[in-house]
Amino acid sequence: MRNIWSPDLSALSGIIQELNPSKIILLVDENTHDRCLPHLIITIPELDGAEILEVPAGEETKSLEIASELWLGLNDLGADRSSLLLNLGGGMITDLGGFVASTFRRGMHFIHIPTSLLAMVDAAIGGKTGVNLGPYKNHIGTFCPPQATLVSPVWLETLSQRQLLAGFAEILKHALIADENYWQESSCVSEMTGDHLTPLLERSIEIKEALVLEDPEEKGPRKALNFGHTIGHAIESLSLQSEHKLLHGEAIGLGLIYETMISEKRGLISSEESERILATLKMWYADLPHETSPDKWWPLMLKDKKNRGDEVNCTLLKGLGKAFINQKLELEELRGISIA
Ligand SMILES: NC(=O)c1ccc[n+]([C@@H]2O[C@H](COP(=O)([O-])OP(=O)(O)OC[C@H]3O[C@@H](n4cnc5c(N)ncnc54)[C@H](O)[C@@H]3O)[C@@H](O)[C@H]2O)c1
Ligand SMILES: [Zn+2]
Repeated sequence: MRNIWSPDLSALSGIIQELNPSKIILLVDENTHDRCLPHLIITIPELDGAEILEVPAGEETKSLEIASELWLGLNDLGADRSSLLLNLGGGMITDLGGFVASTFRRGMHFIHIPTSLLAMVDAAIGGKTGVNLGPYKNHIGTFCPPQATLVSPVWLETLSQRQLLAGFAEILKHALIADENYWQESSCVSEMTGDHLTPLLERSIEIKEALVLEDPEEKGPRKALNFGHTIGHAIESLSLQSEHKLLHGEAIGLGLIYETMISEKRGLISSEESERILATLKMWYADLPHETSPDKWWPLMLKDKKNRGDEVNCTLLKGLGKAFINQKLELEELRGISIA
């Protein structure tokens, strides 16, 4: 796996020449088809004559049914193991395309070109692929790194502020669990724009990549990446049943706030550190409408994939820039925290 920083995308030509694929197929959703594909095709001459597979945008597309249609599509196009699937899109496309490519004829070449902020710093890094199985998120999938993930900030220009803010939560998480200086830099961002966010991309990718390399099977250190996600996932799920549906990253922004508060309550971080962290997090995420009652979160938290037995297992902070994994949470301690 290679994560390649290539603002002008030019590195792609070299990788394609190196792989010398029998055929190139581009996977896009309807938005990346319109917003990103024209620029990519104009920029990379090697894509002249590439085939295109387009799927609807949205999380519902990340399914076995669509994967099956894509396998048939690849077959109809005459793809073989030495063909190359280029996944151009957000995390939905990189997860789905990675899954389809890693299983088609026991695995064909694939490259991710993440176009959402969340995919650039998170979904396209680390080699996890997958689709949802009915209500079960990412239930079917593979650990299979792409030949390369090619990151360019050029795609940030067409993303909505809301999508940028969602991806930014994972950047802030990376800073909080791994790098105080990087937190300092990230907390200075004053606007959700490509210009402000671009300087943060490389370090975020580096942090996730290092944790993945250290712990490919998610047995220990990689659990640091779950910070904000125990409460965040519960808030996300509850929002999806309400009229104020949150994006994953928005819910994680809220999860980071609450889990920072718990870290402080346990004396793992000082009140000065907590204040510093919360000033930034709250500025961006505190106003998002969401379920604030821990009693409502709790049933969902009990079902969290990351639990051990029937204990709720969480990652907290132990100082700014340091994660503290495998912490058991109790409902009672959640009841006292409030975002107000
Ligand atoms: N594999 C992993 O390790 C991992 C990690 C985190 C998240 N994920 C997965 O990632 C997915 C979420 O990713 P996401 O937030 O990128 O969602 P997404 O792929 O659905 O993209 C969000 C929206 O932005 C649009 N879009 C993407 N790039 C654009 C661009 N440049 N301009 C305009 N519109 C654009 C998409 O069409 C979509 O409507 C989830 O399925 C989640 O499970 C995977
Ligand atoms: Zn996340």
